[in-house]
Amino acid sequence: MLPEIYDHLPPPHITLQILSVLSLAYTVILVVGRLYFSPISNVPGPRLAAATSLYEFYYNVVKGGKFFLRIQELHDEYGPIIRLGPNEVHISDPTFYSTIYSLTEKRNKVGRLYQNAFWARKSSFSTLDHDHHRLRRSMVNQFFSTAKIRTFAPWIQERANLLCERFNNEFRVRNENEDKSKEKILNLTDAFSCLTADTIMEYSFAEHYNLCAKKDFKSDLIKILVVFFGQIHVLINFPSLLYLQMAVLPRWFVLWLDPINRVIFTYMDNLLTQITTTLSGTSQSHQDVSHSTIFADILSTKKAPPQEKSKERLFDEAQVVVSAGLETTGNALAVAMFYILEDGEVLRKLKEEMDGVWGELEAGEDGEAQRLSYGPIARLPRIAPNQTLTYTNPETNTTYPLPPGTIMSTSIYTMHQNTVLFPDPQAFLPSRWLPDPVTGEAPRAPSLPSSASKGSEKLSSYLVTFGKGSRSCPGMNLAWAEMYITLANVIRKCDMQLWETGRENVVPDKEYFLSRPRVDGGVRVRVL
Ligand code: HEM
Repeated sequence: MLPEIYDHLPPPHITLQILSVLSLAYTVILVVGRLYFSPISNVPGPRLAAATSLYEFYYNVVKGGKFFLRIQELHDEYGPIIRLGPNEVHISDPTFYSTIYSLTEKRNKVGRLYQNAFWARKSSFSTLDHDHHRLRRSMVNQFFSTAKIRTFAPWIQERANLLCERFNNEFRVRNENEDKSKEKILNLTDAFSCLTADTIMEYSFAEHYNLCAKKDFKSDLIKILVVFFGQIHVLINFPSLLYLQMAVLPRWFVLWLDPINRVIFTYMDNLLTQITTTLSGTSQSHQDVSHSTIFADILSTKKAPPQEKSKERLFDEAQVVVSAGLETTGNALAVAMFYILEDGEVLRKLKEEMDGVWGELEAGEDGEAQRLSYGPIARLPRIAPNQTLTYTNPETNTTYPLPPGTIMSTSIYTMHQNTVLFPDPQAFLPSRWLPDPVTGEAPRAPSLPSSASKGSEKLSSYLVTFGKGSRSCPGMNLAWAEMYITLANVIRKCDMQLWETGRENVVPDKEYFLSRPRVDGGVRVRVL
């Protein structure tokens, strides 16, 4: 028997009906509010996207990372500013990029991406607040100056030598009449990722796994981001899943659900050991090397209070620094080689130029390769916490106020596909980046509809592979050094030919934070 008090409650089916009516009313009020009373309700775009983030969910979760392509179509339909979600806009106007990704004004990151989907919440990368980020970022910035990277360049050169030796000794086709089935095919994406993995581990801890010596360049570590980011769109929408997986459920159960998680656990355990031994002073490797070692040297930085150097904090920072240094640069190298090899004329010219002197790569090839390799092509959303920004559509002259808290972005992909800046944007055209043959001046951008300066900017100011502003990539100089040194060595010392690799292996087709091609397998070559 229930106590008497329950006699006054309506029967269960009535309670259910009341709850349903209330939740329906709530949903209707919410949707009407978003569509008609939101401060960004006049921004054009699909009504469904304005009403619910399920619109993005459909393209990214159900269709698998396809929202970035849908965004391009929406710009074609609605113009340079579109409403992508209840509180989010996307702007395809290169002149507005540095307003969103400002160097001087406060910009916060957005928790839905940077906290929900990354288990490194105390890293500078996942720090949402602008001021807190400045402090954390100042701790790592010092290691990536050009001067510091120059002292590390000989180490990268030594790795590049090792790769070239292995390419020629183990993979070279001895005789053109040799049985083709016995040929050893070289996977350049794997090989370059081994080089970038060794590089970032050495620079972080003065220790590395010597992946450049691994048989066939096979290693779980170089695939870690594919595993990490495979679930990113689900995690953005269901953040508690990451918490369950990493902090609540026993490991054996998580592994039973999906054995691929072993790769993540091994990676994290190894990094935790590195940080623990660095903090305890057990590891002394950094004393035997002539270059900086991020996580040993960071301990002596005076800029940060002790809690910023705690084990948990540095472990999170290490996860981001190491992960960011792996596949991004490895993939950029492989994509660059793909386009250079695909275009016989570019390859011939490069070889010729490098034959005489140990010349640098032409500015054109690496700029164009950076543009097409993309790296993080996700929207990198920002919020202006205490500033109303305004965007004026140059086509209609309509001004849209974007009040504090509005989520804004311009994806790197959208920027690099801009047809005014980069005509025929899918084509590999290094000549876009070449200086004027008469004046020697760097190429200028054509005038853009909304540009006050009417084309006086350098074209390179619109190359945003590494982002821009206060949150841009600190590892840029390291990445450029890896690119220059490795490409120059490989092009000069090795002869290669693409093997069963086409544009479907390199052109972005899906976005899982980083770009993914339609066909996996990497850039594969025969070494001649
Ligand atoms: C071609 C190679 C690379 C590309 C295309 C690239 C691109 C980017 C981009 C676009 C961002 C901004 C992400 C955001 O706003 O959410 C970023 C952030 C970052 N990158 Fe890179 N990156 C590359 C290589 C590296 C390397 C070698 C490192 C080595 C340490 C690195 C470390 C980082 C870190 C720590 C951040 C977070 C910065 C912050 O939020 O303060 N990156 N990178």
